[in-house]
Amino acid sequence: MQKKIVILASGSGSNAEKIIHRFHSSFEIDVLSVISNNRQAGVFDRAKSYGVPCLWIDKKFYQSEQFLSLISNLNPDLIVLAGFLWKIPEALVQNFPQKIINIHPSLLPKYGGKGMYGAYVHQAVKESGDDFTGITIHYVNEYYDQGAIIFQNQVKINATDNVSNIAQKVQQLEHKYFPEVIEKILKN
Ligand code: GRF
Repeated sequence: MQKKIVILASGSGSNAEKIIHRFHSSFEIDVLSVISNNRQAGVFDRAKSYGVPCLWIDKKFYQSEQFLSLISNLNPDLIVLAGFLWKIPEALVQNFPQKIINIHPSLLPKYGGKGMYGAYVHQAVKESGDDFTGITIHYVNEYYDQGAIIFQNQVKINATDNVSNIAQKVQQLEHKYFPEVIEKILKN
């Protein structure tokens, strides 16, 4: 049976695109839909260019039972958060145990939690003077960035790296590993 993915994303969607690209001609894995809370999100254009159905949701709908019904009807094997900024409703976490994953642009538990996303993370890493940063792919539970870790990969930070260089290094890891890890999860 074909495995089904739903992607939730709030921004540019470069990770979502890598995932869609990897599976767009697959018979085994299908990206059913991309859902975003941000009407202007770049992810919509990226998804549409592959013909993936897109949906914009507002907060009221997101927090209602209708959102849970929508996802339940789609019946995904995996819900992938690819830069999705709203906290996942508890009801969704409870109905999809071990079926929601997130990617975080640092080596959790370092530099995670509410408000730690995008450049805020890389800024904190730079200020820390750490020699390494990286990515964490983890299951989603009720708390921001605290679910069980599935995969991590690290990259060296040079003294000359600024926040933008660090972000680029991390993004390269995300694009390489996120689709791979998703495939492994779905094939196991
Ligand atoms: C990524 O850095 C991801 O780790 C974080 O949000 C960012 C999304 O970037 N959760 P993009 O929209 O996929 O380009």
